Amino acid sequence: MKKAAEDILILGIESSCDETAAAVVRGGREVLSNVISSQIDIHTLYGGVVPEIASRKHIEKINQVIEEALEQADVTLAEIDAVSVTYGPGLVGALLVGVGEAKALAYAAGKPLVGVHHIQGHIAANYIEHPDLEPPFLCLVVSGGHTHLIQVKTYTEFEVIGCTHDDAAGEAFDKVARAIGLGYPGGPKIDRVSKQGNPHAIEFPRAKISGSEFDFSFSGVKSAVLNYLNQCEMKGETFCQADVAASFQQAVVDVLVGRAVSAAGKLGEKRIAVAGGVAANSSLRQQMQKECEREQITLYYPSPVLCTDNAAMIAVQGYYEYMAGIRHGLDLNAVPNLKIDEAGS
Ligand code: KG4
Ligand code: ZN
Repeated sequence: MKKAAEDILILGIESSCDETAAAVVRGGREVLSNVISSQIDIHTLYGGVVPEIASRKHIEKINQVIEEALEQADVTLAEIDAVSVTYGPGLVGALLVGVGEAKALAYAAGKPLVGVHHIQGHIAANYIEHPDLEPPFLCLVVSGGHTHLIQVKTYTEFEVIGCTHDDAAGEAFDKVARAIGLGYPGGPKIDRVSKQGNPHAIEFPRAKISGSEFDFSFSGVKSAVLNYLNQCEMKGETFCQADVAASFQQAVVDVLVGRAVSAAGKLGEKRIAVAGGVAANSSLRQQMQKECEREQITLYYPSPVLCTDNAAMIAVQGYYEYMAGIRHGLDLNAVPNLKIDEAGS
């Protein structure tokens, strides 16, 4: 007898950067387990992610993480309906660990293999806690490597309408955090320190890209912070870490919120979802909420733990691909620069 859609079990595997993660999701929306083994401690020693160390840590942990995910969900591999895995974008050596593992499991257990685009996974994280959210909607994706405005047309069709011309938002957070002595990982630290600072203390630029109203640029604000720090040093003055952090964060948040809300207005979208690591930022969430309320737009964002890298989001997106009939062969490879509109079948 054919299994009902709400009973379909997907095992998700994620290893694109510095988290080794596995999860089991039922019916596309119910998370039965979500195990994340973070490598943050070791990369902190080097001030950022060291790709080779990331791959080596993934290979060490991946079997244990998958076993734990199955155990916590109380299901066996034989009961799983498909294995889904991030195959790009990300660090090639890190991705290969997850892809190799998923292929081995799918082959050994005779299960379908579904490759997932990491950013499509971040977007799908929104489905977990918002049962009413279904495409179409507008999504602001803000992670360590991506800053995109995406029209989510169906569960498996995406159109990029804006992107960054240089640094991603998360990358700017990480670089500025390092420059002001906060270290790695920068985003959460800037978020925390900013609460003690004045966001209007220093006026950092809000970059506009001429001719492309939905695009972003963050290298200008990052350079402005570095210049400000240099000037302080040259004058022999100390700078206030909390004020610099808060003012930088405010400049980034103003641009992200402004572009997303104005895009929604121009496209007639009444729903915006935010996704990716920077979606955990408290100031971004607050300002987005305020602006969306004013424009009568419904706002969605995942809990912080589902904003940063995890495998539940990969299993959710894997579920919708599986239901759409998307399958990958055992020749699936890691694609470090996979484009969002190239992923899928
Ligand atoms: O989505 P993610 O976990 O990994 C990528 O796919 O890149 O995003 C990581 C990024 C990092 O740049 C990190 O500094 C940033 O998300 N981040 C934050 C916060 N939490 C994580 N940025 C600002 N505020 C936060 N609370
Ligand atoms: Zn990510």
